[in-house]
Amino acid sequence: MKKKFSKFLAFALTGAMMTAAFTGCGASGGDTDTADTSADTAAEAETEAEAETEAEDTADEAAGGQKVGIAMPTQSLERWNRDGSYLKEQFEGKGYEVELTYSDNKIDQQVKDIEGLIADEVDLLVVAAIDGESLSQVLADAKDADIPVISYDRLIMNTDAVSYYVSFDNYTVGKLQGEFVETKLDLANAGDKTYNIEFTAGDPADNNAGFFFNGAYDVLKPYIDAGTLVVPSGQTQFDQVATAAWDTATAMERMQNILGSYYSDGQQLDVALCSNDSTALGVTQAIETDYSGSNSVVITGQDGDVANLANIVDGKQTMTVYKAVANEAVATLDLGIALLNGKTPGEELISESGWSFQCAYDTSSYDNGTGIIPSYLLVPTVVTADNIQSELVDTGYYTLDDNGYPQAK
Ligand code: BGC
Repeated sequence: MKKKFSKFLAFALTGAMMTAAFTGCGASGGDTDTADTSADTAAEAETEAEAETEAEDTADEAAGGQKVGIAMPTQSLERWNRDGSYLKEQFEGKGYEVELTYSDNKIDQQVKDIEGLIADEVDLLVVAAIDGESLSQVLADAKDADIPVISYDRLIMNTDAVSYYVSFDNYTVGKLQGEFVETKLDLANAGDKTYNIEFTAGDPADNNAGFFFNGAYDVLKPYIDAGTLVVPSGQTQFDQVATAAWDTATAMERMQNILGSYYSDGQQLDVALCSNDSTALGVTQAIETDYSGSNSVVITGQDGDVANLANIVDGKQTMTVYKAVANEAVATLDLGIALLNGKTPGEELISESGWSFQCAYDTSSYDNGTGIIPSYLLVPTVVTADNIQSELVDTGYYTLDDNGYPQAK
């Protein structure tokens, strides 16, 4: 894997900081009298407004009346609401017209939505697939219409219509979960001590799910092989632990069954390795209602969903792997603009775009069945109760409510 890292300020944060800088500027004539100050402020505001209008005009001109079609999977899983609004906001901020669709996690609906976007003559498609295998036909239509396609977060399989993939390093997400468990239980120094673990993975229709599971499992397998980690249910294959549609209730029911079948005799559950927050939420509920042990179970997750962050604050979930989707949207924006301008960007997009976040250009990891799809992969972070403030609040992604629970901005 070819890696290049680059450091700049995130678009969203830059926006916020620029606003703050501007405000600071307007308020700085503190020594002058009120009339002068308000006159200055009014003049400044006017200049500011003119500058903004000019910038918008330039963006509109640059965008040349082009339209971007964004197809997101569902609003019922928290993160896609954030992805959709960040993407829309940012493309619109550059003067593009945006059509955003959500398909209620229904595959046929997503195909129809994308057909609609093609019929509406979008110039670029950004698609987070519900089922990575089901878009070949509709994307062949996109290709016939010369519409470039960015596969967003989830790789779309078996179609040569996909130009690029933007995501986080999905294998690393799982690896961070596995390493977290390894460190938390000090598995390397466990000696004769053994721990019980159960796995909950994601949707088999989502190409990411296997990467997350393998990333975690590869770290923990040596301990399972050595007998330090024991899986009482015996369910260690991805197909056995997968959760259709990443559904919370499905994950909860499966864990209730496991607890009833393998832990009702007082057996202790030490770890519930969950691939993401929607499944972790269900597993946590099952443990609350159906587990008789009094130990605190190590529970992993991914995304930083608000309900899970509250559970982390309350000590009910142990960690989540946070992926700053605001940055994923920024990478997609700059890639999208390059494609809309007829370019075929490579690794240089990272340095030329001036991003504040780390990103790797990868031309070996993601083969969608028609060949390698060049990928821009961002870097995920581990979040626990100890670093919510520094990773999520100080960075500006979340605020804390009056009760100390993180709320998305
Ligand atoms: C995303 C995860 C998310 C999951 C369910 C995956 O494709 O990468 O961030 O938790 O879908 O929405």
